[in-house]
Amino acid sequence: MKNLALLLAFVTVVSAQSQEFGQCGGIGWTGPTTCVAGNSCVQLNPYFFQCLPSSSTSGSGGSTSTAPAALPTGTSTASTNTVAKGIGKLYFGSATDNPELPDTAYETILNNTGFFGQITPGNSMKWDATEPEEGVFTFSGGDQIANLARANGQLIRGHNCVWYNQLPSWVANGVFTAAQLTTIIQNHCGTLVSHYAGEISSSYAWDVINEPFNDDGTWRSDVFFNTLGESFVPIALQAARAADPKAKLYINDYNIEFAGPKATAMMSLIQTLKSTNVPVDGVGLQCHFIVGEVPTDLETILQEFVALDVEVAITELDIRMTLPETDALLAQQKTDYQNVIAACKAVAGCVGITIWDYTDKYSWIPGTFPGQGAACPWDANFIRKPAYDGIIAGLTA
Ligand SMILES: *[C@@H]1O[C@H](CO)[C@@H](O)[C@H](O)[C@H]1NC(C)=O
Repeated sequence: MKNLALLLAFVTVVSAQSQEFGQCGGIGWTGPTTCVAGNSCVQLNPYFFQCLPSSSTSGSGGSTSTAPAALPTGTSTASTNTVAKGIGKLYFGSATDNPELPDTAYETILNNTGFFGQITPGNSMKWDATEPEEGVFTFSGGDQIANLARANGQLIRGHNCVWYNQLPSWVANGVFTAAQLTTIIQNHCGTLVSHYAGEISSSYAWDVINEPFNDDGTWRSDVFFNTLGESFVPIALQAARAADPKAKLYINDYNIEFAGPKATAMMSLIQTLKSTNVPVDGVGLQCHFIVGEVPTDLETILQEFVALDVEVAITELDIRMTLPETDALLAQQKTDYQNVIAACKAVAGCVGITIWDYTDKYSWIPGTFPGQGAACPWDANFIRKPAYDGIIAGLTA
């Protein structure tokens, strides 16, 4: 018994420490807050503290506030949204999220319509945030972002109505007849979209459908497809159109930025929807890229979508790297940003570009891709990086 108790105590101690690159803190985190030997718990953003090898962390205490001084910074004095509008785009925008807004240094830049003419709520309009229980809607988080956009004269991209992820369990784990799930989708999309309808300035577009396909172009297996087949797509689009006839209705996905089975599947879906008069206005290409691996046929793909009588937008752009940052990686990242933006510039039907938050301080990358980061055009101290100059060059060159 005594040995077992000792063993259990030992197991408890071991499991109470996060592994290398594991999470060790952040808003909502209930797991271990210490790291295995040789690692330090570093705050990468308020949601995500990560165990990093001690040699790669600077100083003690894991402060995010000191970027290595030697790294190059951006020098352009032009402003992204001003320049984007000047070449005929509707906006240059950024994702944001409610817990970031109390950070006044962050919000000051987000508010600046010279930089951002559009914002996307990163989380607070998703299903788990807006209808956590069936028929019980909560819009407080989404309203905070919509009100900010309205006050500052920024467009909003609603994000999103129907997605396999961040679903409340009553949806994700529900067992429904086709008729029941149809009503649930209609009520969710209809109520959500109508709540933000009526003011073009606060609801430019909606990602009605998010990430419906697997990377091989087959339909993703989730409660929607498994219950309704592909008919969940027109059901949601028609409910959104009825709720806000003026909002642009988008389907948004990743790995459709280059030729391949997933892009082909998305093009086929758009053709089918168009030929059956289902309302669909746009395709969102997320563009979560890796430094040095930006697709070279992005402009061609954008043109192919536009040829199907939809607009396109770059909806979630970031370009991540394996840390630590180096001069060479930042230079390549600048070129990569320039090439992505230039592809949108070259295609008249590419209406705008949204980056998936503007600063490394609040990027989702380190929490999802261990050991990677530095994906945004502003660093964690709100200093513009060479990538910022790449964006301006892409808009103007
Ligand atoms: C950002 O804009 C909102 C709405 O105009 C304003 O209430 C808020 O004070 C601004 N924040 C900062 C930090 O300037």
